[in-house]
Amino acid sequence: MTNPTRAGDAGGQIVTVERHIRECQGSHPEATGRFSQLLYDFALAGKLIAHALRRAGMMDVLGHAGNVNVQGEEQKKLDVYSNDTLVEVFRRSGRVGVIASEEEDDVLAIDGDDRPYAVVFDPLDGSSNTEVNVSLGTIFGVYRRADASAPGSRDDVLRPGRDLLAAGYILYGPCTNLVYSVGDGVHGFTLDPDCGEFLLTHESIRFPEKPKYFSANQGGETTWSPEVQRYVRWLRGMESEPASPKLSSRYVGTLVVDFHRNLIDGGVFLYPAVSKKGAPPKGKLRQLYELAPLAFLAEQAGGAASNGVTPTLDIEPTELHQREAIFIGDRGLVEQADAFLAQPAS
Ligand code: AHG
Ligand code: MN
Ligand code: MN
Repeated sequence: MTNPTRAGDAGGQIVTVERHIRECQGSHPEATGRFSQLLYDFALAGKLIAHALRRAGMMDVLGHAGNVNVQGEEQKKLDVYSNDTLVEVFRRSGRVGVIASEEEDDVLAIDGDDRPYAVVFDPLDGSSNTEVNVSLGTIFGVYRRADASAPGSRDDVLRPGRDLLAAGYILYGPCTNLVYSVGDGVHGFTLDPDCGEFLLTHESIRFPEKPKYFSANQGGETTWSPEVQRYVRWLRGMESEPASPKLSSRYVGTLVVDFHRNLIDGGVFLYPAVSKKGAPPKGKLRQLYELAPLAFLAEQAGGAASNGVTPTLDIEPTELHQREAIFIGDRGLVEQADAFLAQPAS
């Protein structure tokens, strides 16, 4: 179990996210300050979005923006605000050649002859919770482009998550957390609103040995496959073989929050293929900017992620907004999901 190191406990030092990124850069001789600055840009966007969310109830930023996005979902004003903030930060960064966002129909190619990075993000995750003051998140990933001077294209981001250089999320909750990895473990920071800095509070986060929770929208249970139904019965202690972990259920409806709780306290999140209005079953969550970045973090923290058949990081997306089933979190529980799905339920 990772005991949060209170800011200042790290050997009496106050470690800001900027300093931590620079220190991580130190162990990556090939890393340049430009990559560190890119990660800092996500921290900046997170502060701006956190500020807007804290005042959402008083300002005219709640409710629907009045249009439907490429997902076929009613865009919320806060979705649009969060997306615009991130696009603006990265358009000006001078380092990013391509942006892929949940809220953009296609990739945004940014002109310039030396833009080595491509970023993918879900600007506001859990937006069905915006009107009810439940925690929300932002999810992001960073790829190195094959050719920094070429015009940006979908090829820069239609790649397996295994190619990610970095991934992370910002959790807008009672406090604002930034959790990221550049491939050297997973590290968590908490925003000190008084000084406006993200301070190191969770160094080298690992999934706990003993999981506590499973997270699933059981409202869809009747449309799950019999194998998934059997897996969830097992999680709850209703199947005797193999020995059941007898987990408690926790489900917020914001992927970042459910993932973060399972990372800190131990557990598994699943959103299996579901069938809606009689259509063939399919996943709901998006591979590019929700699942691949979180799978990168999960593996870096000793966990796992799969769609029930293929490790999430090995999936090669062919569409920007491709949806996949997901089982993510404690490695043993994800491996059991794969085992249950491989064995036709009698
Ligand atoms: P987003 O707000 O970015 O569209 O993401 C919502 C996702 C995810 O945050 C959450 O786990 C899931 O939708 C909840 O779906 P259900 O409401 O179907 O349970
Ligand atoms: Mn989302
Ligand atoms: Mn979203």
